Amino acid sequence: MTKPMWSGRFTKAIDKIVNDYNSSLPFDCRMYKQDIRGSIAHSQMLAKQGIISGEDAEAIKTGLLSIQEDIDSGKLTFDSDAEDIHMFIEAELTKRIGDAGKRLHTGRSRNDQVALDQRLFLVDESSEIINSLTGLIHVLKSIALDHVRTYMPGYTHLQRAQPITYAHYLTAYIEMFRRDRERFEQACARANISPLGSGALAGTTYPLDRQMTADLLGMNGVGLCSLDGVSDRDFAIEFAAAASILMMHLSRMSEEIILYSSQEFKFYELDDAYSTGSSMMPQKKNPDVAELTRGKTGRVYGDLISLLVIMKGLPLTYNKDMQEVQESLFDVIDTIKAVLPPFCGMLRSMTIRKDNMESAALGGFTNATDLADYLVRKGIPFRSTHEISGKLVHYCIEHNTSLERLSLEEFRQFSELIDEDVYDAISLETCVNKRTLTGGPAPETVIEYLKNVD
Ligand code: ARG
Repeated sequence: MTKPMWSGRFTKAIDKIVNDYNSSLPFDCRMYKQDIRGSIAHSQMLAKQGIISGEDAEAIKTGLLSIQEDIDSGKLTFDSDAEDIHMFIEAELTKRIGDAGKRLHTGRSRNDQVALDQRLFLVDESSEIINSLTGLIHVLKSIALDHVRTYMPGYTHLQRAQPITYAHYLTAYIEMFRRDRERFEQACARANISPLGSGALAGTTYPLDRQMTADLLGMNGVGLCSLDGVSDRDFAIEFAAAASILMMHLSRMSEEIILYSSQEFKFYELDDAYSTGSSMMPQKKNPDVAELTRGKTGRVYGDLISLLVIMKGLPLTYNKDMQEVQESLFDVIDTIKAVLPPFCGMLRSMTIRKDNMESAALGGFTNATDLADYLVRKGIPFRSTHEISGKLVHYCIEHNTSLERLSLEEFRQFSELIDEDVYDAISLETCVNKRTLTGGPAPETVIEYLKNVD
């Protein structure tokens, strides 16, 4: 086993079983690009401050870039007993460039280095996730634009409540996903702060230019307390929380996709390419993509809970427990990135059964509120019109009919004030078109909303 960089005060080599247990290389190797970027910035700053020579900084940069190239191409692999990616790269650098490599870690600790790498990694991954969310919002928007006059029932308690349009339904999810995207943007801005210069915990006596390193890395600023810089992982927790809320939204929509593509609803027909069959039942067509999305939500919540629990009892500052943050965080990232493309594809390819949505909206007395509102306009107080409308619904149920199919004589048994104009007042079109308040389902309102969404 190679001698670790901290071997000076030890008289025995680390036990192999401990080394394997301790090593984060199998997973933190994913951050090699961020680690190299951070080291190049740090060494450039060291040279500018006169802490190392310009030649050493150049040798470090060339050496690190050659390591990156070799990792990228697969020439250099991570089969090593190094404790982590930071030591792996530093050892490789020293192998390649000699003493200059040993000067890289001046004024730095792995404690501020690992915090930096994780922050940079999250910022990189966030921008990909933010772009995917914009893609999802655009898919929903383009479907919505085709359905501003597709009527469907809106539900409460999963009971038909009032008529809406399919476009209006989709705008609910557009709003949720826009807030999700904003949460990632905000989490990313807070993560993009440099902890370098925090050292192991108490900063360093070298005259580092912390702002310069942050600027070279395109970060928004420097952390203002070295203890905090090496010990907090709230940026990771915030990211996982944003991811959990996103998954909750995707899961609710998935649940509706599963429900709406059932034979009981038939609002959706999933594309064959986005469904699966049964090994036994020849007739089956299953919504696996939506179900997996719903299932993976539990997994992301689990990661968030892991992160919260790992951190909750740790005394300041760095503790090795914190190494455990990385795998949960990577799992959140991998899961979100795996979920979004098939989810978008499923939405884009499914058929919307307008006819079934509309007949569902016509049943279930979804216009009963509008009948009560009609009577309010005739001068009756709402509490009384609610009662009259309820009685009419009851009458319809007994006679197996619907409100708009009642004759004027039947209506008048319940209120003398009902006229011929009631039919127009309770038609599906009127119920929807008159709801023009901001946020409502009227086609013009939804079109205006969609125009401003991107
Ligand atoms: N692999 C470690 C981690 O991920 C890096 C920091 C190690 N620092 C230390 N003092 N042992 O947390």
